[in-house]
Amino acid sequence: MSDAAILNRVREYYGHTLREHGPTPRGVDWSSAESQERRFRELSRLWDGDTAATIVDYGCGYGALARYLRTIGHTGEYTGYDVSDPMIATAREQAAGLADCRFTSVRAELPRAEYAVASGIFNVKMDTPATQWHEYMLDTMSDLASLGSRGFAFNALTAYSDADRQRPDLYYADPLACFESCRRTFSRFIALLHDYPLYEFTILVRFQAD
Ligand SMILES: C[S@@+](CC[C@H](N)C(=O)[O-])C[C@H]1O[C@@H](n2cnc3c(N)ncnc32)[C@H](O)[C@@H]1O
Repeated sequence: MSDAAILNRVREYYGHTLREHGPTPRGVDWSSAESQERRFRELSRLWDGDTAATIVDYGCGYGALARYLRTIGHTGEYTGYDVSDPMIATAREQAAGLADCRFTSVRAELPRAEYAVASGIFNVKMDTPATQWHEYMLDTMSDLASLGSRGFAFNALTAYSDADRQRPDLYYADPLACFESCRRTFSRFIALLHDYPLYEFTILVRFQAD
């Protein structure tokens, strides 16, 4: 299956979750606001408290990260991108009034920022074969890398989750393989965060050491 075909299915899937649950964590398939925010906290370690850092949010959903950032005093320009048009229309409504926040569903319109982050875009593979999803993940990581001049970060479900609780429609990535692939392809300055209580991990890639 091509990346374009995968994206069409992703678009359909999240169009459905949004129609069912509206602009809420469940509307982007998260179980709670707490877990959604915990992911944001882990990803934010990428810019290490630099509140002026410019951010691209890849797979922004209804824009919850924009609100989170403004709530904690982050002032840097934020651009949210999502493959789903209804998601972007909702994000624009939800973020109305937030300073320096923009949204687009057109990849070509996405500017580069200092940092690019993606929360939750690698989890739901549906019935895509795992090998194809892995290739799609690598392609998408390269796209993320092209969008952050200083670095990028993403999360994924961990292959270290209990085998009997794993679902066939979700993709459980090997954190060590992801680390190694990022090290080989992008940079040697990488953090693998596997120390928070969700069945997943976060990878931070910096292009230069701080
Ligand atoms: C699990 S939701 C998370 C939304 C948001 N990041 C959050 O944490 O609230 C994933 C979102 O990413 C979007 N998405 C998934 N893969 C994408 C891709 N390759 N390019 C753009 N958007 C994508 C989906 O449409 C969906 O809105």
